[in-house]
Amino acid sequence: MSKKTTSAALFPNAKVAAEVTTYSASSSTALPKHLVDYHAWVDENRPQDAAYMISNLQAQSLIFFARAFGAKRILEIGSYVGYSALVWAHAVGEDGKVTGLEFSEEYAKIANGTFEKHGVKNVEIIVGDALQTLSTLQPEEPYDLIFIDAQKSGYPSYLRDILAGSRPGSTNRLLRPGGFIVADNVLRRGLVADGSEDNPNWQLQRHVLHAEEDLIALREFNKALANHERLEALLLPIFDGVGFARLLD
Ligand SMILES: C[S@@+](CC[C@H](N)C(=O)[O-])C[C@H]1O[C@@H](n2cnc3c(N)ncnc32)[C@H](O)[C@@H]1O
Repeated sequence: MSKKTTSAALFPNAKVAAEVTTYSASSSTALPKHLVDYHAWVDENRPQDAAYMISNLQAQSLIFFARAFGAKRILEIGSYVGYSALVWAHAVGEDGKVTGLEFSEEYAKIANGTFEKHGVKNVEIIVGDALQTLSTLQPEEPYDLIFIDAQKSGYPSYLRDILAGSRPGSTNRLLRPGGFIVADNVLRRGLVADGSEDNPNWQLQRHVLHAEEDLIALREFNKALANHERLEALLLPIFDGVGFARLLD
């Protein structure tokens, strides 16, 4: 191995990547059955948009992280049909609370039906454009963790709203001091770091609506996270890129 190597070659090709992922999932604390079943149901019944969901291994990692950090109140921006909200609901337990912001009434209805079916009572979905609803939230207690997983072009705006709504001394602040922001897809198939045509994913991304706009917004978001004086940040090259930040004040 070259001395210049700075990271382990865990994923030399797609086959090994799939094996590594399956092995990692089976070597981690198993998800409860209702989460595995719901993920599989969405995969099977909504092939057109099931890829919106976080993976089961990502769910395992988020549950581990939320519990290690002791998160009890979680806000999610972008809930789709409720898989990750169900994951957070499991992570925080019955005495915790999860709020999801979702644009689509149709998705929210499916999510609510699923929560009801599984007797999950600690999640609420607020339907509307999170670019507007986020700044109007007045939580009785601030959130411990905010998960950003809606449209990528909105990430800089969500970050601005979170920081503005969480000023020290303000009433009904959104995120508590020391609270975490977790943002999904911040590397967008590697294109955020390498947007050149040499990136094998370039062709794929070119056909996705607003692709360039997304990459620009994600670079702005990642830069703001890393450089903001009120945040300590970590961008991990796992899954589709996950950005973590801790609010310092
Ligand atoms: C990637 S999916 C979320 C997946 C979900 N977190 C999961 O892992 O199960 C993104 C969701 O954000 C929603 N969304 C996009 N723009 C939004 C906006 N401005 N306000 C609220 N929701 C939005 C979409 O309707 C979609 O359901």
